[in-house]
Amino acid sequence: MKILLAYGSVYGSTEEIAQKLAKILTDQGESVDLLRLKKRTRVDLSQYDGVILGTPVYTDNPLAECKLFWENYEDELLTKRFGFFLTGANPKKLEKRIRYFLSFDLQNVIVAKGHFGGRFIEVKKMRFLHRMYMKMIAAQEGIPNIQLSEENALAFANDYLGIVNEEAMPACAEDEE
Ligand SMILES: Cc1cc2nc3c(=O)[nH]c(=O)nc-3n(C[C@H](O)[C@H](O)[C@H](O)COP(=O)(O)O)c2cc1C
Repeated sequence: MKILLAYGSVYGSTEEIAQKLAKILTDQGESVDLLRLKKRTRVDLSQYDGVILGTPVYTDNPLAECKLFWENYEDELLTKRFGFFLTGANPKKLEKRIRYFLSFDLQNVIVAKGHFGGRFIEVKKMRFLHRMYMKMIAAQEGIPNIQLSEENALAFANDYLGIVNEEAMPACAEDEE
């Protein structure tokens, strides 16, 4: 299968985990093109069987370039094997964010969804507005301790490729006596 793995990233953590996901898929024999999205990204999706999109969450929103991409290409995405992942500080909000970020039609064609954790760089190295925001958060509740999850990327790849993890399967009824 030929897959486009398109993602946005400000400080590189989504890029890092997208590269790991691409390697996992390539090791399974898939052909993967990685694409870091920009506001004007144009791409010929007709050559792909599948598209995976990933965005970090910033102040409860996806990156503008990612949102633009799935809005501009929605009709084609609806015909592809479609996977969607997030990075960020709050994995528990995955379902809620998907409902808020994606159209109803796109939500309905997702074959794999995942939250890959995240990473904060040092606040002093952030862009000005991010620095201000993080100082406010730090004063209120402290900066959350988060990390990227390769395990979640692996689980996502298995879902996307339809690979069943037998260790995670429930025991058979006859085993339960
Ligand atoms: C200014 C700022 C705002 C953020 N807002 C959120 C947020 O609303 N929800 C969340 O889950 N994570 C939030 N995060 C965490 C980022 O999503 C996380 O650091 C992610 O790994 C960044 O991806 P990147 O390195 O690819 O840009 C925020 C991070 C920063 C710096």
